[in-house]
Amino acid sequence: MKRRIGILTSGGDCPGLNAAIRGVARAAYELFDVEIIGIHNGYGGLIDGDYQEMTREQFSGILTLGGTILGTSRQPFRSMTEVNENGVDKVSAMKKTYKKLRLDCLVTLGGNGTHRTANLLSQEGLNVIGMPKTIDNDITGTDYTFGFHTAMDIATEVIDRIHTTANSHGRCIVVEIMGNKAGWLTLYSGIAGGADAIIIPEIPYDIKNIAEAVSKREQRNKFSIIAVAEGAMTVEEAGMKKKEREELRKASPYDSVSRRISNELTKMIGVDTRNCVPGHIQRGGSPCAFDRVLATRLGVHAAELIRDEVYGVTVALNGKDITHNKLEDIAGSPKLVDKDNNIVATAKTIGICFGD
Ligand code: F6P
Repeated sequence: MKRRIGILTSGGDCPGLNAAIRGVARAAYELFDVEIIGIHNGYGGLIDGDYQEMTREQFSGILTLGGTILGTSRQPFRSMTEVNENGVDKVSAMKKTYKKLRLDCLVTLGGNGTHRTANLLSQEGLNVIGMPKTIDNDITGTDYTFGFHTAMDIATEVIDRIHTTANSHGRCIVVEIMGNKAGWLTLYSGIAGGADAIIIPEIPYDIKNIAEAVSKREQRNKFSIIAVAEGAMTVEEAGMKKKEREELRKASPYDSVSRRISNELTKMIGVDTRNCVPGHIQRGGSPCAFDRVLATRLGVHAAELIRDEVYGVTVALNGKDITHNKLEDIAGSPKLVDKDNNIVATAKTIGICFGD
């Protein structure tokens, strides 16, 4: 029996999306009779009916390609159940497109928001399979998401390269790593890059503790590197309501947390500081070998699930195995760094300051 599969990429792009799309497609062509429909720009394309019938050739030559050949967009989950500016009920529109395309399954590649909407569509009766992508590595139930290792390599290289300038000039340089809620990328690249302090959203900091660590280091080495996640917050901010915290940030003279920390350190201990924000470079370019393999393995498992008609799940890496979890079990519960995490403990044991 021929199966019609819709596939979309949603949320922020990341390296490995095309490798995953290719993995699903190549396995599906091998395993059963299939027609694949590429939905453009994430859930936006499903809402607007923007898609294309794909040919087998379109999945060739994309393994190493960054970004996504299907395009993507951010569609916040909270707005999914709201009527849009054109009076369109988004959930009904997505169901309509699914039916019009006579899909047997929809494969959604995305992060936490994407998985919440995937779960919603699954509860609405659509056959959905999720695939965990994000440089943030914050999807529950999978050891790693694809995109994470590539971003970790990029962020590590940034920290490596910053070392020479920090050393030559005897400066303290604060490198701001992506991750608004989850500190995985900062934690791993901070350790890999030899940062002296790692500041992440899950462990609120006190600037006095960072200043003390930098001063202590100044006595032995003349430079310091601080890796800070973009969503890092102080102990006081952590005690506030989200809205209150956002208003405080808006009123702040600093355009980023790294600028704020570097300025505060200069004021407090007179150290010469700079900040560096590599930003979206961390999401750019070709996926690393690990992500290519992971995306391919996850893609193959997604195709196997379609063959076996197992839906309402998302594929995952569990130790050495590729497996799947129910969407309802993971949607809406991001995987954050626990302060008692053993990687945090390892970093603390070698003297890395977390600001707590
Ligand atoms: O979720 C991936 C991510 O890169 C986060 O680390 C970051 O906070 C966010 O996306 C940035 O989003 P945008 O590309 O929409 O500015």
